[in-house]
Amino acid sequence: MKPVFIITAMLTLVTAGVALAVEETITLPASNGNVIFHHKEHENRLKDCTICHVKGPGKIEGFNKEWAHKKCVGCHWKDKISPTKCTDCHKKK
Ligand code: HEC
Ligand code: HEC
Ligand code: HEC
Repeated sequence: MKPVFIITAMLTLVTAGVALAVEETITLPASNGNVIFHHKEHENRLKDCTICHVKGPGKIEGFNKEWAHKKCVGCHWKDKISPTKCTDCHKKK
């Protein structure tokens, strides 16, 4: 195998891996109504993974209610355009 081919194959795998790693929409379970989080739309809006992924992409260490309300609700209040009401995020089925 030529080195160029190997590099191309590796790049393809890496790209496919990233594309598959994260769903466009992530359901964050909560007893008072699950939160449907549009990951892709937030990526496009915010353009900076490190706002949420401080230690790089992947599972967020210590993700819980406190983290979410500080980070998610915190930004939503600050920018004054995004949803802040409990039921904007927590949807009862
Ligand atoms: C507004 C916050 C936010 C931004 C910005 C964001 N993410 Fe996420 N991401 C999350 C949350 C919340 C989860 C789901 C919780 C978890 O997996 O710990 C998640 C999950 C993921 C996962 C899946 C982890 C797993 O194993 O299930 C990957 C991979 C990921 N994000 C990559 C990225 C990349 C790459 C970017 C930038 C292009 C990005 N994220 C931007 C909040 C964000
Ligand atoms: C740094 C800012 C920022 C952070 C952090 C952030 N958001 Fe948002 N969010 C926005 C903006 C901007 C919008 C779009 C508001 C609009 O255009 O109406 C939005 C919209 C939303 C919406 C409604 C529209 C949609 O995309 O579904 C939900 C629900 C939401 N965010 C949930 C979350 C959750 C859950 C987190 C944390 C995991 C989070 N957000 C973190 C900025 C942020
Ligand atoms: C911007 C979106 C957003 C808003 C607004 C919001 N939350 Fe949350 N909330 C979340 C996320 C995300 C989680 C974490 C879910 C997880 O850990 O899977 C959460 C977790 C919780 C939990 C823990 C549920 C459990 O099963 O442990 C409670 C309770 C809660 N929120 C109540 C509220 C109340 C009350 C309000 C209004 C004052 C509110 N939330 C507003 C996004 C939001």
